[in-house]
Amino acid sequence: MVILNLGCGLKTATAMDVVNIDWSFYLRMKRSRVLSHLVPIFARGERRARFDSIADNIVVHNLAKGIPFADASVDVVYHSHMLEHLDRHVAEAFLVEALRVLRPGGIHRIVVPDLEQLCRAYLAHLAGCDSGHEKPHEHDEWVAALLEQTARKEAAGTAKPAPMRRKLENVLLGDARKRGETHQWMYDRVNLTEKLSQAGFRAVTVCDFDQSTIPDWNRRGLDLNAEGKQYKPHSLYLEAVK
Ligand SMILES: C[S@@+](CC[C@H](N)C(=O)[O-])C[C@H]1O[C@@H](n2cnc3c(N)ncnc32)[C@H](O)[C@@H]1O
Repeated sequence: MVILNLGCGLKTATAMDVVNIDWSFYLRMKRSRVLSHLVPIFARGERRARFDSIADNIVVHNLAKGIPFADASVDVVYHSHMLEHLDRHVAEAFLVEALRVLRPGGIHRIVVPDLEQLCRAYLAHLAGCDSGHEKPHEHDEWVAALLEQTARKEAAGTAKPAPMRRKLENVLLGDARKRGETHQWMYDRVNLTEKLSQAGFRAVTVCDFDQSTIPDWNRRGLDLNAEGKQYKPHSLYLEAVK
């Protein structure tokens, strides 16, 4: 089996059949002989711990430029919470790339934040505020769950550094969008199924976090946390076949 874990972030698999790929700034910094010397300036405390925990088994590649594999050479293309970080037109081209690298019958497993679940949770909380069962002063959290990562300008974790350091970081590393942190679009079971069908996939199916047609999928642990529970709540899990 060849399984691609695209936009892996820190969630890498160690199984021999999984290729982890990412393009985060910190990963590129870590791999650069010159830039790695700047790490003590930019990453301290929790950020430094995250930086240090970036695995060595990650291929550095910008997926907006395609998937670095030959036609029909891969059994599974998997990505979790990555598609929504691509511009919409890039995301469409990326789905076509996924189809290209998959062998006939290969599986494309996608995990994205589920716009439907987020909207339902927001509306339920709104109704709760109206009926007095929920606290209005907490309601902004439900709005944030929907919009914060789209509207965010400052990169996460930059609230604490002193203003001068923050400015310097933004000049050198870019704002949240440049660092690839922001959501460029959102998906639900209808628009994602449509986009997959348009890209040429068939048999698009919504599944649960621990359900898959990929043999022994849960053994790889990519959709599970350390306790074996759901790794990314409020997500949509979808599989499609080439
Ligand atoms: C929200 S994180 C998700 C990480 C991991 N898949 C998970 O579920 O925890 C999004 C990841 O996608 C990566 N990413 C975004 N755009 C990318 C691109 N154009 N090429 C490669 N990786 C990208 C980011 O670097 C980041 O690690």
